[in-house]
Amino acid sequence: MARQIGVGIIGAGSIADIGHCPSIAALENAKLAALCDPNKEILDKMTKKWEPEKSYTDYQAMLEDKNVEVVIVGSPNRYHAQQAIDAMRAKKHVIVEKPFACTHEEAWKMVDVSKEEGVFLMAGTNQRFWEQNVIARKLIDEGFIGKPQMGRSSLHEGWNLYHEKLSFTRFRQYPNEAGAGALFDLGAHRADLLMFLMGSKPKRVIGMIKAFGTDYTPLDDSFWIMIEFENGATGVISGDRFSPAVSNISEVYGTEGTIFTASEATNPFQTAPLAVFTSKNFKQSELPEIVREYRYPQLFWSEDIMQPDGYVPKRWVPIYPKRGWAYKSMLEHFLNCVEKDVPPSLTPEESALVTDILVGAYKSMETKSWVEVGRDMENYIVPLYDAPEIV
Ligand SMILES: NC(=O)c1ccc[n+]([C@@H]2O[C@H](COP(=O)([O-])OP(=O)(O)OC[C@H]3O[C@@H](n4cnc5c(N)ncnc54)[C@H](O)[C@@H]3O)[C@@H](O)[C@H]2O)c1
Repeated sequence: MARQIGVGIIGAGSIADIGHCPSIAALENAKLAALCDPNKEILDKMTKKWEPEKSYTDYQAMLEDKNVEVVIVGSPNRYHAQQAIDAMRAKKHVIVEKPFACTHEEAWKMVDVSKEEGVFLMAGTNQRFWEQNVIARKLIDEGFIGKPQMGRSSLHEGWNLYHEKLSFTRFRQYPNEAGAGALFDLGAHRADLLMFLMGSKPKRVIGMIKAFGTDYTPLDDSFWIMIEFENGATGVISGDRFSPAVSNISEVYGTEGTIFTASEATNPFQTAPLAVFTSKNFKQSELPEIVREYRYPQLFWSEDIMQPDGYVPKRWVPIYPKRGWAYKSMLEHFLNCVEKDVPPSLTPEESALVTDILVGAYKSMETKSWVEVGRDMENYIVPLYDAPEIV
């Protein structure tokens, strides 16, 4: 039997319940060593359901537990940075839920502590582990769409879908716990995913963050952010919490093709998780395997072999990869990295840049100009957030 790595979760709320605990239970090399939540009622309910080896109301006590090797921080956003830092100081490897941090300073301090302590730190931006996004990234790496020059990633998802139906607490509507609204909650996924697909770091951002729905949250519930990447590519991310249907789509426009990836839920415009187009000339046998598998000819006796030049006619190919389970894939990846002592594919620096994109966009509304992001950026605290001092 594989060695079981003890995982402890701080914040035994809904994401622990629907994402992390079932992933731990499904992975041979993982065990739920501890659950921690300051709310005794929630802790008792989750302890009964998931049967951790130990339960704690105080996370500092959990960090002393030698059986906990990996910590997942799944508490409200305000606590992410300090709890992740304390866990790393206790020599634990850490997955911290999105948003990685609420300020630029918090994010880069987390990066530094992970280096100082020699432990792995990874954000829980699980959408980059969705099968369709993993395939898209691979096709882009192989040059299938040429050079990616423009990208867009959006997540529009009504307030009642998660906040009202799944979340154990209402922290998302409290400025001092959530930091920001849709910007942090949805923007953290979009910025991460677009960076992942474009394959370049952000250089500067400008944005518009608005609160349309003052009746259900005092925080922002929508955002548009334009991003210029270091390699010159451009992108835009958007999201909202007021439109009732889910729309989750990313698009990458390259010099020789286009890739669309959608969510794991479908709608009439996002009917396939992945759709690809290339203007490159390919023979059937030369197409990337996944594309070959899904590319049906329009004539069943295969028009491909009738082409005078032997190249396949160009058309969109919708791809339906097996529906994976991204929380499990993400944890599996992280635990394999811990076991083999190799850094995770998503670095803490990238997640700090995601934080910079989000807070930088807010700052751009004050400065009325583009904001350069990255380690040298000045700290900025979004309005309504009373950022705690991180030690
Ligand atoms: N990756 C994703 O797709 C995804 C999805 C949902 C939530 N999340 C993130 O997970 C985190 C939790 O969200 P949720 O939906 O599970 O919320 P939730 O309200 O369901 O759970 C939060 C839990 O944290 C506990 N808590 C409150 N203060 C705490 C503290 N100081 N220390 C430890 N625990 C504390 C609460 O008692 C509650 O049980 C958020 O940061 C959220 O953004 C990520």
